Amino acid sequence: MKEYVTEIIKIDESLIEEGNIDSLKELPALQRAAELLKEGEVVAFPTETVYGLGADATTPEAIKKIYQAKGRPQDNPLIVHIAAFNELDGLVKGSLNPLAERLIKAFWPGPLTIVVDKREIIPDETTAGLDSVAIRMPDHPLTRAIIQLAGVPIAAPSANKSGAPSPTRAEHVFADLQGRIPLILDGGPARVGLESTVVDVRSERVQILRPGGVSREEIREVIGAYLYEPGEEAGSIKKSRTAEKPLSPGMKYRHYSPETPLFIIKDESSLKKLLQSGLPENTALILSDEWASKYGPGLKDIKVIKMGPRERPELIAAGIFQLLRYLDTLSLDRAYIEAIPEKGIGEAIMNRIRKASSRE
Ligand code: TXA
Ligand code: MG
Repeated sequence: MKEYVTEIIKIDESLIEEGNIDSLKELPALQRAAELLKEGEVVAFPTETVYGLGADATTPEAIKKIYQAKGRPQDNPLIVHIAAFNELDGLVKGSLNPLAERLIKAFWPGPLTIVVDKREIIPDETTAGLDSVAIRMPDHPLTRAIIQLAGVPIAAPSANKSGAPSPTRAEHVFADLQGRIPLILDGGPARVGLESTVVDVRSERVQILRPGGVSREEIREVIGAYLYEPGEEAGSIKKSRTAEKPLSPGMKYRHYSPETPLFIIKDESSLKKLLQSGLPENTALILSDEWASKYGPGLKDIKVIKMGPRERPELIAAGIFQLLRYLDTLSLDRAYIEAIPEKGIGEAIMNRIRKASSRE
């Protein structure tokens, strides 16, 4: 694999806040990023969810570099990012499901990814051989400016080493991919902190393949009973597993995993039991701010890490991947993490926590 001297360029955060895509496009850093993308190189950049590692979605040679840099399994397809609604037609085969249209209208630009039938212009390398393609229009002015300058749809997985927590800051990308990619644009911390919600919109009802930045409740508000709910999904997911190609190949991989063995505390009485039984040395408890102030003061020799308020799960979401990375710098024997209610973005947080705690 080619070796690079990885450059990080910091983008003025006030320009990002202003959100003026045209003035961002004039920055030399963005023009350089776009040049690299046009040459078939990979570039890391922020989105509102997590940092992405982008490449020209229409060019197999460029796509291969994403898989190489991340060490990503070949059968896990990528999300294609666009900058404007009218770019969708060129990528979708046939006409768009009216349910998809409603969802796009409600949530784009934003952290929702739709899976649709793909046109030929998207090569097999991008979709790992699937006939479908996942598409999203991000709500970050920097991302949209880069896509516009590059002039092509941009395939971008999260910019972490495969198996590591997704990066929410430029330094996470640098830690994972230093020497493996030419450029990282630093746009500060990602706002949402978890990846987009991936939905399959190819049939008469919509299925959530990966919970994420747009919650189940928000989607339900738009399409009501046209959304498969967890119990109902079981059948179709099971069916898809036995099919030749699984529905969402990425779901089968171990993800977001810290090296530190992580265990979930499912409720308050489990926490009390755990504390009574006496925790072994070199253990950390990762607790909500509320539980940390309730139980923390009585604990000696146990490290308590606060993850944010239970009442404001969006704040927990914004910091969870950073927290998992931090955990691994502590050389602990084990850590316990509090389960939070699976409401709103809580569903996506718990999905990631479960993956982080699984040892498969
Ligand atoms: O927020 C996000 O979605 C971030 C930012 C960078 O946009 N991207 C991201 O990409 O999380 P990645 O590659 O880490 O996750 C993509 C997920 C995987 O679970 C993959 O299996 C699924 O989307 N996926 C991609 N194409 C698919 C398809 N055609 N059918 C089903 N699932 C698909
Ligand atoms: Mg990922």
